Amino acid sequence: YPALTKEQEDELRKIAAAIVAPGKGILAADESTGTMGKRLAAINVENVEENRRQYRQLLFGAGKELSKHISGVILFHETFYQKADDGTPFVKMLNDNNIIPGIKVDKGVVSLAGTDGESTTQGLDGLGERCKQYAKDGAKFAKWRCVLKIGRDEPSRLALIENANVLARLDGLHERCAQYKKDGAGFCKWRCVLKIGKSTPSYLAMLENANVLARYAMICQQNGLVPIVEPEVLPDGDHDLAMAQRVTEEVLSFTYKALADHHIFLEGTLLKPNMVTAGQSCQKKYTPETIAAATVQTLQRTVPCAVPGITFLSGGQSESDATVNLNAINQVQGKRPWALTFSYGRALQASVLAAWGGKQDNLKSGQAELVKLAEANGLAAMGQFTG
Ligand code: 13P
Repeated sequence: YPALTKEQEDELRKIAAAIVAPGKGILAADESTGTMGKRLAAINVENVEENRRQYRQLLFGAGKELSKHISGVILFHETFYQKADDGTPFVKMLNDNNIIPGIKVDKGVVSLAGTDGESTTQGLDGLGERCKQYAKDGAKFAKWRCVLKIGRDEPSRLALIENANVLARLDGLHERCAQYKKDGAGFCKWRCVLKIGKSTPSYLAMLENANVLARYAMICQQNGLVPIVEPEVLPDGDHDLAMAQRVTEEVLSFTYKALADHHIFLEGTLLKPNMVTAGQSCQKKYTPETIAAATVQTLQRTVPCAVPGITFLSGGQSESDATVNLNAINQVQGKRPWALTFSYGRALQASVLAAWGGKQDNLKSGQAELVKLAEANGLAAMGQFTG
C-alpha cells in the first residue's frame, strides 16, 4: 500500500535537498505570539500584531544577501499571512529572494497526565486540511516540535528491559529444570531486582512523542510538505554530557522506530535535534570538540543515512556557542552521511532584536546583524568558521 507516489517522493526529496544545500540553514522565525511577547518584552517593545509584523519585515527584508546562507524560514501562522508595508506578502518576499517558506504546524505542548511533568504535542486534528491549505499558499516544509526532559538518577531503561527479558529467557534452564524436577523439586524461583529512582524521559513520553512526530510526518508528506521532525531533549538540569548522550540516543531511537512503523519516506524528511550538551546547571564544562564528538556519535548510532539533513536547534545556547559547536560538529573525523546544519531561532535573532530595539532607524543595523550571524553559521555548516 504505497503512501506516496514516485512524483510526490521526488518533490519531497528535492525540497529537503535544497534546504540543506552546502553552507545553508534555516532561520526559525516561528515564535508563537506568546514566545514573541517574551522576546519583545526584553527590548521594551509592546507585543502587538503590528510590532510583530515590523520585526518579521526586518528579518525577511534583509535581501538577497540573506539567501547566501539561509535556505528556508519557518513561519508562525500569523506571519505566514502577513504582508510588508508595500503590500507584498511575506511568503512572496521570501520566494523572490530564493528562500523557501516553511510553517510551524504543531499547536504547542500539553502535559502527559500521570508523568513527572512530561508532555506531548498537540495539533493532529485537522492537520491534513491545514497542511493542504499551507501548501496551496506556498509552504514547502513544516515543523512540529516535541519536548523531552532529562531527570534521571541512573540510566535505568536497560535494567528494565533486560530484567523483563531474562525472566523469559531459557539458556540451559530447560536441562537444569528437568534435572531438578527429576530429583524432586515441585516449583522454582528466579529473582530480578529493580530500584526506583527518577527517570525521565519516561517510556510513555518517548513512545508518545515519537508516535505523534511520525503521524505528523506522514500527514505532511501526503500534502507535499517536507516534515522537520523535532524531538527536543531540553538542556534544563545538571546532568553531564554522557547522560545527555544516552537520553538523546534513546529518544532518537524511539523516533526512527516510529517513523519506520509509519512508513515515512525518510529521504523527504529533515531532523531537528538538540546538540548533545551537558545540562545548563552541570558544573563540568566541555569543549566544543567533546560536544561535537558526542553529538556526531549519537547521530551515527540512531539516524539512518537515508535522512538527507540534520538541522540543529540552538536550544538556549549563546549565539557564539551555537556557531562554534556547529563548526566543531562539521570538523569531526568519521562518518557523517547527512548534511549537518542549523535551524536556529534564538541564536540567529538575539543580537538582531537588540540592535533593532523596536526603532525604525535601527532597521539596517538589525538586518546587518542577521546577515552576519547567517554568514557565520553558513560557514560553520561547512566546518569553515574561523571566528
Ligand atoms: P532555538 O534555536 O531558539 O532553540 O529555536 C529553534 C526552534 O525552532 C525551536 O522549536
